[in-house]
Amino acid sequence: MINVLFVCLGNICRSPMAEAVFQDMVEKQGLKEKFNIESVGTSSYHVGDKAHPGTRRVLANHGIECHNIARQISRADMDSADYIVAMDRSNAADLQFRTKGTPAEHHIHLLLDFAPQIDFKDVPDPYYSGNFEEVFSLVETGCRGLLEQIRRDHGI
Ligand code: 4NP
Repeated sequence: MINVLFVCLGNICRSPMAEAVFQDMVEKQGLKEKFNIESVGTSSYHVGDKAHPGTRRVLANHGIECHNIARQISRADMDSADYIVAMDRSNAADLQFRTKGTPAEHHIHLLLDFAPQIDFKDVPDPYYSGNFEEVFSLVETGCRGLLEQIRRDHGI
């Protein structure tokens, strides 16, 4: 199993969107059995909440399901993830702090590192901007690059 963990602050806007988009891509490429895909937040602010209505709406508009219930990252999540994919540099800094001195620190990436055609690194937070459609487009581009990288890494 290849474990992919998407991480944002609240686990209600960006990382549940990335989880759903990546799951959809993996299924369409016939790779479902090879992946375990999850998302978490660095904070506990929204633990137990469904994804933000804006995230659910934009995913539904693109025909993608979302069943996420927000939870906060745990030690076990970090230890078991092969790819820890942060939505912005603030999330990545939090993850670097939490994993310092463990193998997991070498598994941290930024989603937009997999989208070299985009000239910025942070997926903007739609919780503040309200721009869920823009975030969807960035997430889709990043997830496409991530899946290509994983397919190369694993020869699949
Ligand atoms: P997310 O967005 O990290 O993409 O889920 C946010 C959700 C909630 C908050 C901030 C960002 N908040 O401050 O409650």
